[in-house]
Amino acid sequence: MSGAQADFSKQQFAGSHILSVSQFDRAAIEKVFQVADKMLPYAKREKRTEVLNGAILGNLFFEPSTRTRVSFGTAFNLLGGYVRETTGMSNSALAKGESLYDTARVLSGYSDIIAMRHPDAGSVAEFAEGSRIPVINGGDGANEHPTQALLDLYTIEKEQKSQDSGIDGLHIAMIGDLKYGRTVHSLSRLLSLYKGLKFTLISPEELSMPSYICDLIEDRGHELHISNQLEGNVSADICYQTRIQEERFPSQDEANKYRGKFRLNQQIYTKHFQSKTVIMHPLPRDSRAEANELDNDLNLNPNLAIFRQTDNGVLVRMALFALTLGVEDKIEDFDRPVHWFSTKGQ
Ligand code: CP
Repeated sequence: MSGAQADFSKQQFAGSHILSVSQFDRAAIEKVFQVADKMLPYAKREKRTEVLNGAILGNLFFEPSTRTRVSFGTAFNLLGGYVRETTGMSNSALAKGESLYDTARVLSGYSDIIAMRHPDAGSVAEFAEGSRIPVINGGDGANEHPTQALLDLYTIEKEQKSQDSGIDGLHIAMIGDLKYGRTVHSLSRLLSLYKGLKFTLISPEELSMPSYICDLIEDRGHELHISNQLEGNVSADICYQTRIQEERFPSQDEANKYRGKFRLNQQIYTKHFQSKTVIMHPLPRDSRAEANELDNDLNLNPNLAIFRQTDNGVLVRMALFALTLGVEDKIEDFDRPVHWFSTKGQ
């Protein structure tokens, strides 16, 4: 299989790697979202499908993860497929010096599709060079997290729709560690495909958004406001909070300098945002007292969308599996009833 990244402008996903948001245009994004919408009755357990019965996902996570790893596995199971997992570098022959290329040659013989996370930027693309089956990037260092960006965008579209609005013209505030936070890199690049957005980027100067992304935002005609403090009334439609990515800092002492700098709680939210501003975070949020970037006192705020994001992640990952394995039009042909009691649809 070619390691080249397909571009999905013709919506030909089958057999392709998903390594970067740069593969997507607006039509491709819409295609993913249409398929994701069709997945809701399966995720809510109103019915199930065996469209991928017999297919195997290799779920390779060489860096810690809760929701990306488990939701990839859940998404594949919900389509009727089987999941084999490898977690942690020390449990893999990578720890014995095996190359990513050899690992990919071997593991692509054991499954039909691979989802992978690795701490090094560019590692998933390097792995894909050796793979004979599609590889989906579940996060490569501080570089990209394309499936998170797609689920974030899917959530933004749904939240905006519920307010009779869309993504064009949106004002988004991104807060926190914008240097090492790969989710904001990928999401900004996807959002830049839309029209007339305003980006307010709030971070310590040392943790600011990489200049190539700021340039892209401005080159595509969007308004860009950069600040190192939360000031005045931000009046954003979306407030996208992030965690200090301590695992990417040279030392814990360095990370400690920034922890807790941009906390968001109900009082700060009321002071700086509109009453309708949607609060997002890719999670995990750091709930330790010294950080607490998204306080528990927001948990009952109806605009807190963080758990809608995580639920949407299953739908979007189901859609990506269906598209890359070419079964997006066959899902309902393999429907089965759910015969156990489920509260998911309530
Ligand atoms: N958002 C995200 O990537 O979470 P995990 O690290 O738990 O996968």
